[in-house]
Amino acid sequence: MSATQSRHASRAPFAVTVALPIGVLFTAVASLATLLGVIATAPVEVELPAPAAALVLPDVEVTATPVLNPCADAEVQAALAAGDDEAVVKAFGGGGEFQAAVAIGNAPCIPLDDPAHEWVVVNKLRALTPIDFTPASVTPSNLRGTSRSVSMRPAAADALNRLADAARAAGAGVMGVNNAYRSYGLQKITYSSFVRSEGRAGADAGSARPGHSEHQTGLAVDVVACTPGCGGIGQFAGTAQSRWVAEHAWEFGFIVRYEDGATATTGYMPEPWHLRYIGVELARAYHQGGFHTLEDFFGLPPAPDYSE
Ligand code: DAL
Ligand code: ZN
Repeated sequence: MSATQSRHASRAPFAVTVALPIGVLFTAVASLATLLGVIATAPVEVELPAPAAALVLPDVEVTATPVLNPCADAEVQAALAAGDDEAVVKAFGGGGEFQAAVAIGNAPCIPLDDPAHEWVVVNKLRALTPIDFTPASVTPSNLRGTSRSVSMRPAAADALNRLADAARAAGAGVMGVNNAYRSYGLQKITYSSFVRSEGRAGADAGSARPGHSEHQTGLAVDVVACTPGCGGIGQFAGTAQSRWVAEHAWEFGFIVRYEDGATATTGYMPEPWHLRYIGVELARAYHQGGFHTLEDFFGLPPAPDYSE
């Protein structure tokens, strides 16, 4: 608003023509009106005298609070340099803040396509880079294994140990590992065998092509129920372990990656046995935010099929 605009005031008995600051001016008018016994009845338009009108009041512009650049934060940079993904997420302010920053494109220092990080997103439209990526190290968990591919990246294996211990302590029974880390070569063999038995379309519904599997990151594991003996992944749905995992996996940094009802986004039939480690901070944000796919979590497009 500028001083040249008219102002509402109580009915004034006369015009004030002396140069006075605006506050003094209105006080003077009000006092004189009171002295003269003039009762205010209705608002009227009063032209400000020239000296007051000449005053230019500042125009106040309402602007959005500037979005800070989390990647410029020293703590974020130090955690990135140290390769500590959990510390990076905490330095952003927590999983929710990290997710929001990534989803709105305000986190250019967070490469969602780098399989060295726990936040990597791999799907039918996002091949691993490099395509034959190998994790720095993998180690077996303490769980019973039903194949030779039972290792995971150390943080994921530790978390899986704690998850399985908690499930057993809660009365949900014993869990085992069907498959965890699969190399590019092993994924090629796995996928090819599905193509042979189910055709290409059938294979694509349940098995990733080599270079497109989360198993190749060392962050994914197919768990099975082992009460009393270990079943296969096909028998996992409906078990106590399956129900417990669906409810509690996030507490240990895992998400059920291919949920029922999410095929249009993930490109895969439901796999209640396929757990993906994304770290405790992010898994908590995923759970609390009510997300069902990693694509939605990070604001990425659905990946129902390969581009070619
Ligand atoms: N079964 C999942 C999609 C994989 O092969 O990675
Ligand atoms: Zn799997």
